[in-house]
Amino acid sequence: MQSYTRVASRLSEEEVRRGVDELAPWFYPFDLGDGLRTVSAVPPEVEGIFATRQEMVERVVGAHFGERLGDVDCLDIGCHEGFYALALARMGARKVTGLEPRAESLRRAEFIRAATGAPNLEFRSGQVETLAAEQKVYPLTLFLGVLYHVMDPMLCLRNVGAATGELCVIETQVVDEVEGSTEWGARAWTRPYHGILALIDETDEYKDGNRETGITPLVSCPSPKALEAMLRHSGFRRVEFIRPAEGAYEQHARGKRVIVAAWK
Ligand SMILES: C[S@@+](CC[C@H](N)C(=O)[O-])C[C@H]1O[C@@H](n2cnc3c(N)ncnc32)[C@H](O)[C@@H]1O
Repeated sequence: MQSYTRVASRLSEEEVRRGVDELAPWFYPFDLGDGLRTVSAVPPEVEGIFATRQEMVERVVGAHFGERLGDVDCLDIGCHEGFYALALARMGARKVTGLEPRAESLRRAEFIRAATGAPNLEFRSGQVETLAAEQKVYPLTLFLGVLYHVMDPMLCLRNVGAATGELCVIETQVVDEVEGSTEWGARAWTRPYHGILALIDETDEYKDGNRETGITPLVSCPSPKALEAMLRHSGFRRVEFIRPAEGAYEQHARGKRVIVAAWK
């Protein structure tokens, strides 16, 4: 991963060190510049997920916006501690807004903003279910690791579609594909189906206060074809599954977790 120098840090080195300790445990391995880092609490065999996602997101965003990125405002929906919001800010987006429902994660994200001094980064409280009401459109949105933690995926994707001006990068766990045919009103009438939503009960993690879960205990996870169909019905005209690079995190490499670019 790249290394950064804190250019316009608001916090002193001592304040950053103290904040890193006080706010531990961290979910992400932040590079805060000048050799200051957070240590991720995820197991070492999973830590590769962060770099894989970052590389894939940056590849898609760079290919689409190129030099225009400096004129682009972004919304990172379900931003957690702000890892990918910071990555986009460092890539040169004009302004990146991180939206996150959990106060304890927002507190860490705010600290990251202050520690890095990123002038084009802000965080606020909010959830995807009520995003459309804000009626604000961002050329670029990120919806990473959130879809399979929500109860109503169509409502959420419609809201993401409404908030996206040009490009949305979505990352989600996917379940195995299911296709078939079902009776539809009478024995002789049938309809084909392509893709499924699997119901997942996250009650245990939710009750344990896990900061990565949804804000409701019952959630659903799409199959790849269901994901594509839902995106098309959410206002996206083109959907592309992004190819993981050589050496990608094992779940991306095996297609159990996908990153999709969706264009309006
Ligand atoms: C698995 S984490 C993914 C975080 C980050 N986007 C990433 O890809 O690393 C899921 C995040 O979504 C947030 N979240 C859960 N339900 C949400 C909702 N309904 N609206 C917005 N964010 C939500 C969680 O609080 C958590 O920060």
